[in-house]
Amino acid sequence: MGKLEDIVSLCKRRGFIFPGSDVYGGMAGTWDFGPLGVMLKRNLMNAWWRFWVEQRDDMYGVDAVIIMNPKTWEASGHVATFADPLIECKECHGRFRADKLVDGATESITTEEFLQANPKCPTCGKQNWGEIKKFNMMFQTHVGPVEDDTSIAYLRPETAQGIFTNFKNVVDTIYPDMPFGIAQQGKAFRNEISPRDFILRDRECSQMEIEYFINPKNWEAEFEKMRTGQHVFLEEIIGLPESMIHELEVPAEDRAHYSKRTIDYMFDYPNGEEELMGLAYRTDFDLSNIQRASGKSMEYRDKVTGETYIPHVIEPSIGVERLFLAVLTAAYWEDGDRTVLRLSENLAPYKFCVSPLLKNKPELVNKAKEVYQQLKDKYTFVTWDDSGNIGKRYKKQDEIGTPKCVVIDFDTLEDDCVTVRDRDTTEQERVKISEL
Ligand code: GAP
Repeated sequence: MGKLEDIVSLCKRRGFIFPGSDVYGGMAGTWDFGPLGVMLKRNLMNAWWRFWVEQRDDMYGVDAVIIMNPKTWEASGHVATFADPLIECKECHGRFRADKLVDGATESITTEEFLQANPKCPTCGKQNWGEIKKFNMMFQTHVGPVEDDTSIAYLRPETAQGIFTNFKNVVDTIYPDMPFGIAQQGKAFRNEISPRDFILRDRECSQMEIEYFINPKNWEAEFEKMRTGQHVFLEEIIGLPESMIHELEVPAEDRAHYSKRTIDYMFDYPNGEEELMGLAYRTDFDLSNIQRASGKSMEYRDKVTGETYIPHVIEPSIGVERLFLAVLTAAYWEDGDRTVLRLSENLAPYKFCVSPLLKNKPELVNKAKEVYQQLKDKYTFVTWDDSGNIGKRYKKQDEIGTPKCVVIDFDTLEDDCVTVRDRDTTEQERVKISEL
């Protein structure tokens, strides 16, 4: 496992992640994915989509808008309750999340509890605090040319509501049997008081969420299936070590306003254990609220039994950036004087790097280009590197996680074999080009 600053530095040096608006000095809580970062990010999102949607018969996708009718956020409870406890230092006017300054505190911390602990201000070190205020984390905007109360809209703070509001559309067009799920991947926005730990807590992130609709009488069994399914995805598909993932049964007072049971999947990040994803039993909270607010029925009629009910929901929700950072944390490895990203083959941006031993020998370069094209046609994610010496090329490919480097030398011209060097063991073997 690497230190956070080592991972941040590698990400910038090798084009995985840059600070958002870097050229203007950045903007807190925003990050841009560079050429290699976007490849890894897509591989993660595609692996999730393949596993949870494409390989199952009971999951359907949607891609809803980010700016939804503001009634959505009134009905969902976000306007009233999607807030963090904000505290201001009266000396330096620094603003902080109160629960993050007191050991063991939760989001429901009161001013009295805070003042009893009386922590030092992280900026100026003084202990002169104001009152805790509830700070709503939704970003507001105005839709249309008039800026007044009637034009207020929000950037969605979760992708989930784009699923709930399409529940009836999916039922009426696809006629799915119960239980079934609707999945969505996309941007979510939160005006976090204290964005921190690189991409762990951002103001703009990407979520991957499923609302799995069930008959309420089966909720415990369905929750259990989803609970174990998350481990299969995180450990077998993504390759995170089981020992770095810890389930946390969230106590009632810490659960989101809509949840009757929540398990947080905590991960051993470089700065300690933090939430990677959550699994919540949202009951019929959302569909019932939508039914009330819209006046449209959200009931489902079972095709076999004729039973009619508002479905309940099990919701696994994971942030792409948190998954990205978990993958980098687990993959980062310092082996003597080399830094290696031990990414699994399905996630690595490039599967192969091809290079000629010497770049000033046309016969080697031509042969290497032939091999490069052959591998590119077969595997797509193949890179070319003829810069510097071979040691420097290996060092760079190790840092970006390329599992195999293929080198074309003078013997290749005679025997049609290449040297294949393994990223993790550094062992080299001769392999026939036709067997690559
Ligand atoms: N729809 C449920 C929901 O949004 P959440 O626990 O607030 O629940 C779900 O968020 C997941 O989204 C988190 O477990 C985390 O992976 C990711 N996430 C939430 N806020 C984030 C932020 N500010 N930065 C990065 N990821 C975030």
